[in-house]
Amino acid sequence: MSRPKLQIALDHNELEAALADVFKVGEIVDIIEVGTILCLQEGRKAISCIRSMFPEKTIVADTKCADAGGTVAKNVTDAGADFMTVICCATIPTMEAAQKEVKELQVELYGDWTYEQAAEWRRIGIKQAIYHQSRDALLSGETWGEKDLSKVKKLIEMGFDVSVTGGLNVDTLKLFEGIEVYNFITGRGISGAADPVKAANDFKNEIIRIWGE
Ligand code: 5RP
Repeated sequence: MSRPKLQIALDHNELEAALADVFKVGEIVDIIEVGTILCLQEGRKAISCIRSMFPEKTIVADTKCADAGGTVAKNVTDAGADFMTVICCATIPTMEAAQKEVKELQVELYGDWTYEQAAEWRRIGIKQAIYHQSRDALLSGETWGEKDLSKVKKLIEMGFDVSVTGGLNVDTLKLFEGIEVYNFITGRGISGAADPVKAANDFKNEIIRIWGE
């Protein structure tokens, strides 16, 4: 079973704060995400700054795009992103248009979606899905549990590379032991820590402890 990757989500309101954090932990993580909040605040400038700081890293633009997929995907690709997210309720034509302009498209799962839709995403060649517990669901008392694990496993069986995200901390990771998660995405677990470098290393070491090198 291959080792899940670690992705930092930069959900800062200000570019300067995001750059300060990514400067510290960018070499520890495998993937750097320009989070939705930062995309809305600073968009293209944030992606291009981070690309110049980390020419070799995989960068995700978490646009959660719902429409104009081709235009948004071209814009983030031109700015330096490798991956981009679309929301699961976007239409197939939106996803197809985005796919033509970006290296890899990720479908972000929120709210209501079905395995029939997921089969359609696979049919058009989408490989990546992001299984998400939203901030707002977590705030209203949701927790990670068996219901999530079974959906993640089913998506993996369907051939998706599944990323997991939403309020993760180091202790959450062991819930996924034995499951071939592609990538763990954490924002506040690193950026909100008193020592972001230690937090990023703690996440990485726990992944290695559970899944190996
Ligand atoms: C919010 C997101 C976040 O980037 C993602 O959930 C990680 O954030 P956190 O670990 O702080 O919950 O996509 O829409």
